[in-house]
Amino acid sequence: MFRFRLLHRCWGRAMLGAAMVLGVTIAAGAAEPTVPYVPTPQEVVERMLEIAKVGPQDYLIDLGSGDGRIVVTAAKQRGARGFGVDLNPVRIEESIENAAKAGVSDRVTFQQRNLFETDLSDATVITMYLLPRVNLDLRPKLLELKPGTRLVSHDFSMDDWKPDAFAEMDVKEKYGTAPGSSSIYFWIVPARVSGSWQWQLAVGGKPLAYELALQQKYQMISGTVRVGGRSVKLEDARLRGDQISFSFSVVVNGNPLKHEFSGRVMDKGIEGTVNLAGSRTRGQLEWKAARSVKAGQSAGATLVAWAR
Ligand SMILES: C[S@@+](CC[C@H](N)C(=O)[O-])C[C@H]1O[C@@H](n2cnc3c(N)ncnc32)[C@H](O)[C@@H]1O
Repeated sequence: MFRFRLLHRCWGRAMLGAAMVLGVTIAAGAAEPTVPYVPTPQEVVERMLEIAKVGPQDYLIDLGSGDGRIVVTAAKQRGARGFGVDLNPVRIEESIENAAKAGVSDRVTFQQRNLFETDLSDATVITMYLLPRVNLDLRPKLLELKPGTRLVSHDFSMDDWKPDAFAEMDVKEKYGTAPGSSSIYFWIVPARVSGSWQWQLAVGGKPLAYELALQQKYQMISGTVRVGGRSVKLEDARLRGDQISFSFSVVVNGNPLKHEFSGRVMDKGIEGTVNLAGSRTRGQLEWKAARSVKAGQSAGATLVAWAR
C-alpha cells in the first residue's frame, strides 16, 4: 500500500513537473494542454475496456486521446464506435494513422479540440488519463450526463465521488520501459433521485399511500418511507445509473409486510415492480412513483439537492 501511494505521489509529481517543463496550463477551459502526454500502457487500456464492459453498442469518447490507443482498441477489439479529442495536432495525426493501420477508420474519429469544450452527451463510455484537478473540473459536467453513462479513469480519482469499481495492476512498462502500478477507477453516472416521491398500491384490496423521502450523494442513497401513519428507514437502498432498488418492512392492517422495490428512474417518474411478502399478502405488483409536488412548488424544484 505504501509503495502504491509513493508511486502515485511520484507520478503526480512527474505529471506536474512535466506540465511545468512543457509550460502547459493546469486550468479548466484553457486553450493549451491541461495534461502532458503520457500514454496508457496497452495492457491497462484493455483492462479499462474490460471493466467498463465496452461492446459494439457503445460510443466511447477518450478525453485527451493521445495517440488514439484507447479509441482504436475499443473499435478493433470490442466493435465500439469512438471519438478522441486532443489539443496536440501531432497526436491527432498519429491517431488517424493508427486507426487506419488497425482497419477501424470507419468507426472512429479524432479531432483537435479542447476536452472542456467537447459535447459528451452522445457518449455511453468516457475514458480519461488526466490529472486529479482536471478530473475535478470535469466532474460537474460528467454528473450531468445521461444516467448510466460509464466513466473510466486511469490512475486518478474523483475525490469524494467514490468509484463503483476499482482495480489496481502491476505494469511491466508503465513509464517508457520503467515498471509501475496502475489504478483503474470506474463510475456509472447516477440518476438524480433526491427529494420526495409518492405512489399508491392496492394492498389486500385497499389503496395504500406511500411517501418516500430520499437523500443522495452521488450514487449513495438513503431515506425513509411513510406509510399507514408510520415511518420506516429504507434497507439495501441502491442506485446504479437509472436502476434503483430498496426494501423495508412495515405493519399494514396489523401484520408486518416486507416490501422489495426495484425500478427504473425516468424523466416522468420511477417505474418498476414491488414484491410483497407477509402472512396475509404475497405477490408482485407494478410500481409507479411520481415526484411529490408541494403547494407553490413545481416538480422540477425537488431536483435541487445534489452533491456539490
Ligand atoms: C496523459 S495523456 C493520455 C493519452 C491517452 N488518453 C492515453 O491514455 O494513452 C493526456 C493527453 O491529453 C491531452 N490534453 C491535455 N489537455 C487537453 C485539453 N485541454 N484538451 C484536449 N486534450 C488535452 C494531451 O495532449 C495528452 O495527449
